[in-house]
Amino acid sequence: MKDQDTKNLPAKGRELPGWIRAFVETPFGAIQEYGPPGSLSDHATRFMINHIRVPKDARACEPGCGTGVLALYMAMAGAGAVSGADLNEASLRAARYNASINKIRNVKFVKGDLLMKVSGPLDLIVALLPHKPAPGPFNKRYYGGPDGTDLLLPLIDQAASRLIPGGHLYLYLNSIANPRRVLVALNERFQVRIAGEKRRYFTREEFDGLLPGMFDYLCTMKTQGTAEFHEDTSGFYFTARVYEAQLL
Ligand SMILES: C[S@@+](CC[C@H](N)C(=O)[O-])C[C@H]1O[C@@H](n2cnc3c(N)ncnc32)[C@H](O)[C@@H]1O
Repeated sequence: MKDQDTKNLPAKGRELPGWIRAFVETPFGAIQEYGPPGSLSDHATRFMINHIRVPKDARACEPGCGTGVLALYMAMAGAGAVSGADLNEASLRAARYNASINKIRNVKFVKGDLLMKVSGPLDLIVALLPHKPAPGPFNKRYYGGPDGTDLLLPLIDQAASRLIPGGHLYLYLNSIANPRRVLVALNERFQVRIAGEKRRYFTREEFDGLLPGMFDYLCTMKTQGTAEFHEDTSGFYFTARVYEAQLL
């Protein structure tokens, strides 16, 4: 696989110092996942796994693949050829290692911005990208720009030009990231349905722990109509959704 940098791969069974390990259960078996702390898949990845459909032999891609779990899952679920793209070298290295220890061969990982380095027409795109709104950059794993859509809107554009007609984009979106703006962009070129949704409770401390002042920023965004969240007796919550968008 010419796009892959294999020369610096750790040997099988000898992951890099400091890497941690997880098992991700899927309907097609467990995926062993290694990677640097802070880069491993999380509850949102698992939520995606439970709400995407992978057509047999699909040409599939995961922009923002991190340690590669969703890309590996698509390969296990029957995709024909899968690529994952990310800007983070350490995550890509883990993704390649994870492909090798899980013995998944029809997947490659490339360094690139969204879909820019992924070639060929695609049947399926699965994206769980950074989209937390914040007043300024913080953790690159989460920061999505002032309203959360800095990466989502270009991705929707690129997906529309790279998918075949009838192809699918699955997009994970928390309702604090200007869902109305995202839906307008999706509806222009896709037929959209909600494939899965759930409440995600959060606290002021959780968000201020990511960036001081972030909770107040979210409240301002809510007042301006770009972040949607609510409060009940259990606390604050927003809605996490997986959108299934089929190219018209
Ligand atoms: C929230 S993490 C999700 C990772 C993975 N999809 C998962 O489910 O575990 C977002 C990922 O997007 C990557 N990323 C951020 N900006 C990117 C860009 N412009 N192009 C490609 N990947 C990007 C980050 O490096 C990070 O690995």
